[in-house]
Amino acid sequence: MTNKINITLSTTKKEKPASNQLEFGRVFTDHMFVMDYSSSKGWYDPRIVPYEPITLSPSSMVFHYGQTVFEGLKAYRTKDDKVLLFRPDKNFQRLNLSNDRLCIPQIDEEFLIDALKQLVSIDKDWIPTAEGTSLYIRPFIIPTEYYLGVAPSKFYRFMIILSPVGSYYKEGIHPVKIFVENQYIRAVEGGTGKAKTGGNYASSLKAQDEAEKRGYSQVLWLDGVEKKYIEEVGSMNIFFKINGEIVTPSLNGSILEGVTRNSILQILNHWGVPVSERRLSMEEVYQAYKDGLLEEAFGSGTAAVISPIGEFFYKEEKMLINNGETGELSKKLYDTLTGIQTGVYEDVFNWVVEV
Ligand code: COI
Repeated sequence: MTNKINITLSTTKKEKPASNQLEFGRVFTDHMFVMDYSSSKGWYDPRIVPYEPITLSPSSMVFHYGQTVFEGLKAYRTKDDKVLLFRPDKNFQRLNLSNDRLCIPQIDEEFLIDALKQLVSIDKDWIPTAEGTSLYIRPFIIPTEYYLGVAPSKFYRFMIILSPVGSYYKEGIHPVKIFVENQYIRAVEGGTGKAKTGGNYASSLKAQDEAEKRGYSQVLWLDGVEKKYIEEVGSMNIFFKINGEIVTPSLNGSILEGVTRNSILQILNHWGVPVSERRLSMEEVYQAYKDGLLEEAFGSGTAAVISPIGEFFYKEEKMLINNGETGELSKKLYDTLTGIQTGVYEDVFNWVVEV
């Protein structure tokens, strides 16, 4: 593959939304990165082009069997006008793990970081600076062979699009309410749960829809076999503070290995806070709640950042956590993580990459 990226700049510039009115993933910048794959050429023709619709035949495999993968990461602008990416190496590493699970060819991770830097640098004026905003980066791959047989595609398109975003939840940084799902399941060991592939999200919609109708933002998924053990929330991993100890479900093959999850574990270790990654049942959390020992709960994710959880609905009961308010630890982790991401705090972990 040639590493030379062809650049075609847009002749028109779209209007940028006001920084304080940003939703998640509704508006897109002026440019995008595109690269194609064929079995004979490998990944070829990397290019940055104006953001525009793409044309595909209705028989393109992307419309039929869901062989897709995606990633999510963010860029931030610092007070002294530097542009920082947060741990892009981890996201591209995970992209290749998802590729492996979905039979999509591997991509050179170093090259992707370089391509991303060039794209973000071209659209850097789109990075919002208001508190809690950032430029969300969505790399993704679709199969493009025109074929209806169920088989790995012989052709793919890799793209990166950029979107200035505010908070993912309408609650902003205020606690969200979560419905503990007892009917549907998200994933089982050996399935695709740990890959970032569209089908995992498609299969979550029904439960999400029903939870929303009852006034909950998201569902908490339990394991797919016994429906007992806590997995994740779908757009975030989950942490609990129980009697002074931080507990998060261990990675078991069906949970997504969140980059934010990993970062929180490292921050907590650095602070000397005891953390346990282990199998955790909802019943244990419920018992801790009944005993007055469930101090805090929060979700973590690129889009969600740190989202405090103010209530769970479980066993037809509302479990109010920390009086429905943001806990001290959630707040401290949010400030530390976003502080590192935006260059306000020292990056002792060497996570941020300057564009
Ligand atoms: C992210 O946090 O980047 C995600 O991929 C969650 C997403 C489904 C909104």
